[in-house]
Amino acid sequence: QVLFHLGEMVTATQSVSEDVLELLGTEMNYKVQVVSPEEEDRELLESFDITYGESTGGEEALEARPPVVTVMGHVDHGKTRLLDTIRKANVAEGEAGGITQHIGAYQVKTELEGNERLITFIDTPGHEAFTAMRARGAQATDIAVIVVAADDGVMPQTVEAINHAQAANVPIVVAVNKIDKEGANPAKIRQQLTEYGLVAEEYGGDTMFVDISAKQNINIDGLLEAILLTADAALDLRANPKMEAQGVAIEAHLDRGRGPVATVLVQRGSLRVGDSIVAGDAYGRVRRMVDEYNDDVTVALPSRPVQVIGFTSVPGAGDTFLVVDEDRVARQIAERRQARTRNAQNAAKFKRYSLEDLDSA
Ligand code: GTP
Ligand code: MG
Repeated sequence: QVLFHLGEMVTATQSVSEDVLELLGTEMNYKVQVVSPEEEDRELLESFDITYGESTGGEEALEARPPVVTVMGHVDHGKTRLLDTIRKANVAEGEAGGITQHIGAYQVKTELEGNERLITFIDTPGHEAFTAMRARGAQATDIAVIVVAADDGVMPQTVEAINHAQAANVPIVVAVNKIDKEGANPAKIRQQLTEYGLVAEEYGGDTMFVDISAKQNINIDGLLEAILLTADAALDLRANPKMEAQGVAIEAHLDRGRGPVATVLVQRGSLRVGDSIVAGDAYGRVRRMVDEYNDDVTVALPSRPVQVIGFTSVPGAGDTFLVVDEDRVARQIAERRQARTRNAQNAAKFKRYSLEDLDSA
């Protein structure tokens, strides 16, 4: 009625813009505050005395953590093969049609000149259908390795991957792969990528390009060195390992035997078997943790990817997770988030059947 008098033709079940809401509030002596989903969630967690997103305990509590490196690039350019070579594993050969369809996460112990260092790698698919996984990979990472096949050159998902990394403000190392192949032209890759703001150091820019062959194991150490140089020079990779764990679920699915299984990346704190955990609107108790070899893990420190078994439902890929004191709190946070999702869905349903739509039909 109030809006009607102000000249806004709306019905009770219709969604209105923020401006109209604020106008209505002023008119009726309410203070209207438009809250983003992120803010709403922050408030929800605050009501349980939880803050998400930062290491607690100040400077003294921070300890070095391994870099998280996401490998991205066009389909078939050799991302999985590269990680296989680094890990001395064999995933690429076993993939259906040779195409990666999921995000994979691995922690590798590297040894360069006698120094042992851990690096966490996230493998992303290059197929054009998997944009969301690439975007998520770029957001959870410290460094992006863009793999470009030297015999194929810069392709659409190469450009897309660069865009994701740049949007997330993540430093880029370019791995020019397949230099063993006939027709490989690493210089041309450097030249092509200048167009996207990636100028090689040897051309006066500040992007590291490393020529490799994942298949023939050529110069893989050179790439690892470039990654660690970038990590040490440009990034402050520290986190408090002594708080309750927080991080992100990078993949999740329903396993027939084990129930919901989520691959999570611990970003701060330590995740332990027995912890009460909530990820998005899923919750549970960490019943078991395993690494990519299906070996049991009892404690996962910062930058460690691990599969968690014990959720009562499947979390969404990309959801943040956190550990809380009690099962009850995990359940309540999850239920409040579920209710919020339901409300949003109902609102969307109402909107679809609003009078305005009927009028125009
Ligand atoms: P998606 O995950 O589907 O995007 O592909 P990918 O980038 O992971 O490519 P993958 O590692 O599956 O490799 C694709 C093909 O290229 C495989 O047959 C590899 O053996 C081959 N390959 C990868 N690296 C090299 C290389 O350095 N030299 C040669 N000759 N072949 C390579
Ligand atoms: Mg792959």
